[in-house]
Amino acid sequence: MTILITGGAGYIGSHTCVELLKAGFDIVVLDNFSNSHPESLRRVKEITGRDFNAYDLDLRNKCHVEKVFEKYNIKSVIHFAGHKAVGESVSNPLMYYRNNLMSTIVLCETMKKYGVRNLVFSSSATVYSQKADMPLGEDTGLGAVNPYGRTKYMIEEILFDIYNSDPYWSIALLRYFNPIGAHESGRIGEDPNGLPNNLMPFISQVAIGKLPELQVYGNDYPTKDGTGVRDYVHVVDLAIGHVKALLKVQSSKGVEAYNLGTGNGYSVLEMVEAFEKASGKKIPYKISGRRPGDSPVCYANVSKAKKELNWEAKRGLEEMCRDTWRWQKNNPNGYKKVLNAESIKVF
Ligand code: NAD
Ligand code: UFG
Repeated sequence: MTILITGGAGYIGSHTCVELLKAGFDIVVLDNFSNSHPESLRRVKEITGRDFNAYDLDLRNKCHVEKVFEKYNIKSVIHFAGHKAVGESVSNPLMYYRNNLMSTIVLCETMKKYGVRNLVFSSSATVYSQKADMPLGEDTGLGAVNPYGRTKYMIEEILFDIYNSDPYWSIALLRYFNPIGAHESGRIGEDPNGLPNNLMPFISQVAIGKLPELQVYGNDYPTKDGTGVRDYVHVVDLAIGHVKALLKVQSSKGVEAYNLGTGNGYSVLEMVEAFEKASGKKIPYKISGRRPGDSPVCYANVSKAKKELNWEAKRGLEEMCRDTWRWQKNNPNGYKKVLNAESIKVF
């Protein structure tokens, strides 16, 4: 029995592949490498000492996806593949609707055809209404405010509809808060294309000297120091959360949403300070205006995941910053754009 991982070469996917292989699962990865590099998968094999097959294919290509389902005895799917940059989704919404929705629809159609009904889906805290009280529980009102967030919201709705049409499906909607950090080996981590949008990759590129200074987007929010507060969660904890969610969908039926966060909120300036401590590097910063669409505060109520998945984040802020820095220091240019794709199969 094999677990199919879509988007497995990406940031969260590659860390999850490590944890699945460590836990003894057999996996097969599908990725079109639009936002990742085959080198990440080579390093997953290096870290775990285990081999697996990966296919360079676009999930929207039904014919190719079906060939994978023909070839493997797939038991469950973890679906990471999708575009994720909020700003890009505002300027090019159709690209986001086409990729995120179409790839999920093709995947689910193929799962249905081959009788595979266990699915773990990468959702996001961005599906929650910005007006909600903190901490955010899973029953908080939903209301995404940008096209990217709306794709996640729409996919959640589609998955509920699929379950309502066939109660043999078992689906976990994992609403991630702010994943940061990297594997402790320093061999895999986040490798953004171009200028990072997110706080931690930006801070670490300032620390390594690739960027001159951090722009802090607003210091007039109603928070402890005026800067935005988020629930940062170590990517390895998040990856372990996927293993727990997989066990859950394989042993039950229904659709359930789970927050994956720590339940703690840290401000931008607290993150800068923690990173400086972990790296020994000064992070110059300048306060600039608020970024449109940002909420002042966002953190999770994590009791449902603890109770139903037996999962909770174990790694604290120090470890998150230390591991981010180790990855950045050891890989200043991310995965080098060497073509090392011999082990990547193409249909
Ligand atoms: P990522 O970009 O590193 O990984 C996504 C992977 O999907 C990439 O390897 C990309 O090449 C692949 N992909 C995209 N479209 C594809 C397609 N049509 N066919 C095949 N492969 C395709 O992103 P990530 O940070 O690892 O995020 C994984 C998932 O989690 C995404 O769905 C993202 O929206 C969601 N998420 C991420 C965050 C975050 O802050 N990183 C937060 C909440 C939710
Ligand atoms: N920030 C800065 N300067 C930067 C980048 C960010 O001050 O250069 C601030 C933001 O204003 C915010 C905090 O740092 O207060 C975190 O911002 P990120 O961009 O790292 O994260 P967001 O919470 O805005 O969004 C992220 C992902 C979304 C996802 C969401 C919830 O980008 O896709 O977390 O999971 F939906």
